[in-house]
Amino acid sequence: MKDSTINQKKNKSSDHFSREDWASAYINVEKELTNVELTNFKGTIPKGLTGTLYRNGPGRLERGGQWVHHPFDGDGMVMAMSFKNGKVYFSNKFIRTEEWKAEEKAGRFLYRGVFGTQKKGGALNNAFDLRLKNIANTNVIKLGNKLLALWEAASPYAIDPESLQTYGISNLNGVLKEKESFSAHPRFDPGHHGDTRMVTFGVKTGPNSTVRLMEFQTQGPQAGKLISDNKYNFKGFAFLHDFAITPNWAIFLQNSINFNPLPFIFGQKGAAQCLTSKQNSKGKFWLIPRDCGRFANKQPLIFDAPEGFVFHHLNAYEEKNYIILDSIYYSDFPTIKPNENFKEINFDLIPEGKLKRCIFNLEGEQISEETLSEQCCEFAMVNPLFLGKNASFSWMACAEIKEGNSPLQAIKKLNHANGHEIFWSAAPRGFVSEPIMAPNQYSLKEDDGWILVLIWNGKRKGTDLVILNSSNLNEEAILELPIGIPHGLHGSWVSESTNSSQKT
Ligand code: CO
Repeated sequence: MKDSTINQKKNKSSDHFSREDWASAYINVEKELTNVELTNFKGTIPKGLTGTLYRNGPGRLERGGQWVHHPFDGDGMVMAMSFKNGKVYFSNKFIRTEEWKAEEKAGRFLYRGVFGTQKKGGALNNAFDLRLKNIANTNVIKLGNKLLALWEAASPYAIDPESLQTYGISNLNGVLKEKESFSAHPRFDPGHHGDTRMVTFGVKTGPNSTVRLMEFQTQGPQAGKLISDNKYNFKGFAFLHDFAITPNWAIFLQNSINFNPLPFIFGQKGAAQCLTSKQNSKGKFWLIPRDCGRFANKQPLIFDAPEGFVFHHLNAYEEKNYIILDSIYYSDFPTIKPNENFKEINFDLIPEGKLKRCIFNLEGEQISEETLSEQCCEFAMVNPLFLGKNASFSWMACAEIKEGNSPLQAIKKLNHANGHEIFWSAAPRGFVSEPIMAPNQYSLKEDDGWILVLIWNGKRKGTDLVILNSSNLNEEAILELPIGIPHGLHGSWVSESTNSSQKT
């Protein structure tokens, strides 16, 4: 544990990390393992930590000598780390998407990637190929007795939670139409209305946008059943990566961006490279009443958003006539342009994420905003049992430096009541990914549990699983994984009790 005394020097890359260490994480995963016990570790694996950490992210970044243009274009690979009786077992498997199978066979890229990966042969060979490659690489969650590998622009892939074998693309028992989009950021309602639920959405966008808001049962024999399903239309193009929920509301931020598809159509850019921030224009918040809440059947409320671009929200909650929403804002939409190499990006030229709070007055229809933390951060979460409530604590990945942009190298616990921050740092040679908070199921204390985080260890060019005490960020154990994993995206914790309640 380290108090708020970390390096406050200006952002000079050499101070706290080397680019070579950071970029060395971009590798192909060559092996698939099943239930390998992790025996190489220091510390003690907590006995009370029982369940499985699932993670997803790009595992294949190069084919036939050609690299993806952006790591987000890499094929999804799911990992499972199962905690049992003080031992941890590791498995990993690529998701057998149709596109992955075809490219494995061909030994080269056959599809364009959304973030700019092109087929060989220049614009001529890419023009008018508007197929979307479902890479299933963004998140993995458990619904009923299956895992779902999620990628927001298409339908999920269903996977076996034990063997990690791919069953195939899933329409969720007829809920989704063919190729229908399904967000990679479901939110799990911890029981605001009695039962626990998965709340999620899909978006169909163009000059106007339609959001489909869905709620699924997550417990008992009916787990996975759709219990609420509504569509809402809004003006304008919408890029919606994430959202937030409270007991009564689902909250979206329509970022203020334009989409000009022509460079994509003519083979010069990936679809996401055609997004640009709109000048002198604000985004909009959409507050949609949930079916199970006390504003059901009322029209959505719309508010102006602050300037900036948001991928991820931390949490939202209600207090009297107010809704409070915490999100991570960038001053602009970050992208890697066609002539740039992602391994050589200059962090100083890319905007950093800052944690900001917006407060909506449901009566006065006013909004106020404040910055909770200036420090570059991403991947923030509260104790999942406090989602949608006024949580006192949050955990997030952050930069080692206090100002400016830099790779994520530390974990921060933020006390929302008094602003106090504590840190655990992997700098200078370690790089963190999304921290997952696994609550201690035998405790009612909000910050009692563990933080599970994979770090890229630049010294040994490999990946470590770090277990921190979530209350004081003390190190409980550091376990070496038998294979190296590129910087990843999202994952989830499935506790043993959740497992058994889903099976009954
Ligand atoms: Co995300």
